[in-house]
Order: sequence, then structure tokens, then C-alpha cells
Amino acid sequence: AKLLVLNGPNLNLLGTREPGVYGTTTLEDIRLRLTQRAAEAGHRLDWLQSNAEHELVERVHAARTDGTDFILLNPAAFTHTSVALRDALTGVALPFIELHLSNVHAREPFRAHSYFSDVARGVIAGFGADSYELALEAALRQLD
Ligand code: DQA
Repeated sequence: AKLLVLNGPNLNLLGTREPGVYGTTTLEDIRLRLTQRAAEAGHRLDWLQSNAEHELVERVHAARTDGTDFILLNPAAFTHTSVALRDALTGVALPFIELHLSNVHAREPFRAHSYFSDVARGVIAGFGADSYELALEAALRQLD
């Protein structure tokens, strides 16, 4: 199967960005780990990080016809703001898992609301870089 991992704004700064909250692993480290794990399981993984909402929206639209079977999404700050990205996901009707490095429920109150959780297959939050691997494992089981 083909999985697509989408990463929202500021996640390109992982490794140096608020390491007390987000850890010291870089997004490139995470990408390599996930790509390897997906390959071991016989799947392909596509990857995008963007700071621009319209790029993420357009990548979701493309996923409708490029063979994508499942999406892993860390919307980052767009979690709490983006009706447009939510509508893109419901519009293409592809299954997705929402994931976060930090436990968004243990932080500022504005992070507790997500525009994605109620339309996601499930949500994983709070395990740092491991959240990505746990989300991938969950996706692989959903695909089985
Ligand atoms: C985040 C949590 C969001 O609240 C925040 O805006 C991010 C990262 C996380 O992975 O913990 O940028 O999605």
C-alpha cells in the first residue's frame, strides 16, 4: 500500500525547536525511520512537510488520484485553526490518523481543540518522535 505522511508548519525546525516539548530528534531522522519501517512491511511512504496551508491542501487533493491508501497527519498549528485542511481530508475521503509529538491535552487550553480528531480514524499524541512510529504501526494494522 501507499502511505502519505503530512507535516504542518514549523515541524522543519524539529531538533532545535523547543526541545523540552518536542525532543531533539529531527524531522529527517523521523522520515528515515518511517520510510525504513514501511519498506520492511512492504509498503511505500510519501512525505511532505510544509509551512503553507495551501500546499498541504493541494497535496491532500493529489492523494485522491495518486494511489494513496492512508494518510498520517501531524497538522502542527493547523490542528487548531484549519477548517480548509479538514475539509480537504473529508473531501477526498481517505482514512487518516492524526498525530502529535506532544500531549496537546496537557498544554495550553487552545491546543486541546482539534479540527481533525472527530473525522480521524484515531489520534496519537504525547510520545515524541515515537508518535510517528506508533501511528505507522496503527496504520499498517488498519490496512491489513
Ligand atoms: C504539535 C502540537 C501543536 O499544538 C503545535 O502547534 C505543533 C506541534 C505536536 O506535534 O505536538 O506545531 O502538532
